[in-house]
Amino acid sequence: MTDSTDGERRDLIRQVRQRLEALGRAGLDRIPSPPALPKRGAALLEPPVSTPVLNAAREPAPSRRPVEPPSPTIRNAPASLFSEPELPGPVIAPAERPARLAALAAEVAACTKCPLLASTRTQTVFGEGSPTARLMFIGEAPGETEDHTGRPFVGNAGILLTDMITKGMGLAREDVYIANILKCRPPGNRDPSTEEAANCLPFLERQIAIIRPEFLCLLGSPAAKTLLQTSLGVTRLRGKWHRYRGIATIVTYHPSYLLRTPNAKKETWGDLQMLMKAMGLKLPERKKG
Ligand code: URA
Repeated sequence: MTDSTDGERRDLIRQVRQRLEALGRAGLDRIPSPPALPKRGAALLEPPVSTPVLNAAREPAPSRRPVEPPSPTIRNAPASLFSEPELPGPVIAPAERPARLAALAAEVAACTKCPLLASTRTQTVFGEGSPTARLMFIGEAPGETEDHTGRPFVGNAGILLTDMITKGMGLAREDVYIANILKCRPPGNRDPSTEEAANCLPFLERQIAIIRPEFLCLLGSPAAKTLLQTSLGVTRLRGKWHRYRGIATIVTYHPSYLLRTPNAKKETWGDLQMLMKAMGLKLPERKKG
């Protein structure tokens, strides 16, 4: 076996193990066999044959699992092992990902699909973080500071997002991946138009397919609307699991909204804790008294 095949095999084994562990932490003690799961939404159907999940909760399995409608919302389970192939293209080996992302970033930098944005931007803001991140945050579009620096979430909203990641979740910013629906700043920080979001979406889809995160955290309504194809707002979407092409996905308030509405921070903290639990991250001890 060549080194690269060996590496790909090890990466695949790592991904399968992590996914089984995430399913176990979510309380699933069985997963359906692959032939029983050809379609989105089928993950919670009662499987004809099932496979034990690593570290599954010890409760006895219910005799019948609820049949979920074919919707992107999953009520209790964050991840589905066999829905992962819904991402386009083959799994890219970790060692190749930086070069693939750099090539995609170069395409993005040359993009003029939205003539207004292309003529008003200082530069495109591709995204940054670990090419093998388990978790990807997706915001709306670059603001003024991002447009000047070429980096996502580095203004005031970015400072709050960084605190959410580091102080809240106990991760390093470099461990996750951060991107936006739009790679260009809309003039005056207005919301992205539907056409702009549709023009830019293929870039984000390719970015997600290269990184192949296990979890997505969609920040704010434009991200949720674009990726989950829903007209529901964040208040209705947050606090539960969704699925984007087989990836366990949560929606929460955008950090800019949290800066304007600090009372909503506790709900976002609840969303992050749900995410942390599914990722197997340690929750902070509750202060006594
Ligand atoms: N808001 C966003 O949605 N993205 C950024 O990168 C910065 C602010």
